[in-house]
Amino acid sequence: MKILVTGGAGFIGSNFVRLVESEKPDWQVVVIDKLTYAGRRENLENTRAQFVEGDICDPIIVAQAMEGCDMVFNFAAESHVDRSLMGDPNLAGAFVQTDVYGVYVLCEAAKRAQVQRFIQVSTDEVYGDVHDGYSVESDPLEPRSPYAASKAGGELIARSYGISHGLPVITTRGSNTFGPYQFPEKLIPLMATNAIDDGALPIYGDGLQRRDWIYALDHALGILIAGEKGNPGEAYNVGGGNERFNKDVVFDILRLLGKPDSLIRHVEDRAGHDRRYALNFDKIKALGYAPRFDFESALEATVRWYQERQDWWRPIRDGEDYRDYYNRQYSARLAGS
Ligand code: NAD
Ligand code: DAU
Repeated sequence: MKILVTGGAGFIGSNFVRLVESEKPDWQVVVIDKLTYAGRRENLENTRAQFVEGDICDPIIVAQAMEGCDMVFNFAAESHVDRSLMGDPNLAGAFVQTDVYGVYVLCEAAKRAQVQRFIQVSTDEVYGDVHDGYSVESDPLEPRSPYAASKAGGELIARSYGISHGLPVITTRGSNTFGPYQFPEKLIPLMATNAIDDGALPIYGDGLQRRDWIYALDHALGILIAGEKGNPGEAYNVGGGNERFNKDVVFDILRLLGKPDSLIRHVEDRAGHDRRYALNFDKIKALGYAPRFDFESALEATVRWYQERQDWWRPIRDGEDYRDYYNRQYSARLAGS
């Protein structure tokens, strides 16, 4: 089996490559990644994957990378909600370009290459805000941020290739993921790295938003199982079963690091902030998926990783790009808190 992993130098993609190499040692893995701010060659350290630097929107390089591949796992995306909300066409436009147009380019190439499976890695955010109960795969798509809308658009493009051209598309909708190699713009690594440096921890609004947390290797496992055992044309929720208030996750991180709660600052909320996501993932459980990691020990392992791997995150956080982003996103918020 030869697989193409797009976005494999990102957070979940690189964890997926590691999982595949341990679960399927005879599989050949090709990674294509543009190495945006979020993609890093070093995320693939200690893996055997063949690496192609390239954009999924480029049909020539995509066709070359896909040659001889049996399956495509599409992780490549602009993935951060806050960046999709910044009033900058270059930023918000990149979400539509990669998360929608990029999916079209991949589907066209996959159709020509006659791949056996095309796995579109999507998100629980496509369901929108979930006040009560749990999202099931047949629920309507009601995305509420430009990021979530671009992911829903990508899903629909892939679905249309399944219906119109018989491309064997399987979609996964994963919940909030955490673990090693996550870019320190997302809640858990941002809070952990700020706390290590005794910096302020900016919680949006009241911090009573809820997310269902899943460890990266469990999310990767769900995607692998969906790809191998799922039915073309179907979507599969991949949840962790760990619903937590944001505030409680931050308290847990502080406790693990032995830092005081006084580092917490409640800042201006995210625009259109979804209060809750929650997944019913019975459908993928029926394929044999069950999370292997419990939340508390996986969170501890993750926080320890950030304590130990300062060689990984300090160059990112000290870089001009990250400091610009951080100032734009947090300076006024923290000044007003
Ligand atoms: P990430 O931002 O860490 O990684 C994205 C990767 O895609 C990076 O390596 C980046 O360089 C690459 N990339 C971006 N644009 C590209 C392009 N045009 N061509 C080629 N490569 C490109 O994201 P992540 O958190 O690892 O998310 C991976 C996938 O999982 C995304 O599709 C995301 O929507 C989905 N997802 C993420 C989560 C989460 O909590 N992080 C949850 C559910 C679903
Ligand atoms: O639900 C799946 C999604 O989870 C994925 O599709 C996205 O790619 C991924 O980024 C993630 O989106 P969220 O917006 O939920 O993740 P984030 O880590 O940005 O925020 C998690 C929660 O924490 C959310 O309610 C916003 C809040 N938050 C986040 C940051 C960065 C804060 O309160 N303060 C912060 O500084």
